[in-house]
Amino acid sequence: MIYLNGDFMPIEEARIPVLDRGFIFGDGVYEVIPVYSRRPFRLAEHLRRLQHSLDGIRITNPHCDAEWGNLLERLIAGNEGDDQYLYLHITRGVAKRDHAFPKGVAPTVFIMSNPLLTPPKELLASGVAAITASDNRWLRCDIKAISLLPNVLLRQMAVDVGAVETVLLRDGFMTEGAASNIFVVKDGVLLAPPKNHLMLPGITYDVVLELAAAHDIPYEVREISEYEVRTAQELLLTSSTKEIMPITRLDGKPVGDGSPGRMFAQLYQLYQNYKVTVMRGNTPNT
Ligand code: PDD
Repeated sequence: MIYLNGDFMPIEEARIPVLDRGFIFGDGVYEVIPVYSRRPFRLAEHLRRLQHSLDGIRITNPHCDAEWGNLLERLIAGNEGDDQYLYLHITRGVAKRDHAFPKGVAPTVFIMSNPLLTPPKELLASGVAAITASDNRWLRCDIKAISLLPNVLLRQMAVDVGAVETVLLRDGFMTEGAASNIFVVKDGVLLAPPKNHLMLPGITYDVVLELAAAHDIPYEVREISEYEVRTAQELLLTSSTKEIMPITRLDGKPVGDGSPGRMFAQLYQLYQNYKVTVMRGNTPNT
């Protein structure tokens, strides 16, 4: 069951006019929200980031948070599996093709839910391979825009050589992954790039830094040079669907000793524990 512009229906029945500006221009934004035990994780933060994205492209939010909450609740109930991920997609709507904004057009709102398949244990035990590439995206990567062509091409570069992610470098510094945030471990310190217009402010990124702060794990938020990436003890990748994963090969060379490190093991465990605590309702799921 999906949601489209006011109605719930099977995905096979969902139809979008070809003149939708999402289709024509990639003129829209999206969110991906993990659902554990049928409860959306960090909903308030995801809706806040959605608002930031909508503001960034000047679309009026079609729903208040309570309405979003209701829609998502109905969608979770209407789909199988306790663990799901919600995909929310808002475009500027349907209008005759013209780059400038149309007047008086309602946005298109589409939401679907899919099973959340977190990385299998074997992959977490071995770690994954990544490559590096020059970050050739636009200068508003803080907006979660549906126009993902650069990200698609950058991710495919990794897949073409049997890797899972592309670590992006801009002007000698690391920004993020093609569809994830990246952390570096150096001398036992967790390093995170500062949030700015060159990266998506990841919700999982925030959770990781909060966990580090709460458990006395040394961390620094600062610019990370290409050299530091290439000489890292550990590299970690985070996203709502992949949670936390160790990158153990970069451009064909081992990261550290080539196996998942202690920082990964600790943060992964803390993340899993945190998830369980939040889902039991012992901690506010903010
Ligand atoms: N992508 N950076 C980029 C470019 C991303 O696309 C994503 C997530 C992240 C991680 O953000 P978060 O922790 O909030 O998921 C960082 C989603 C999962 C996607 O496009 O499917």
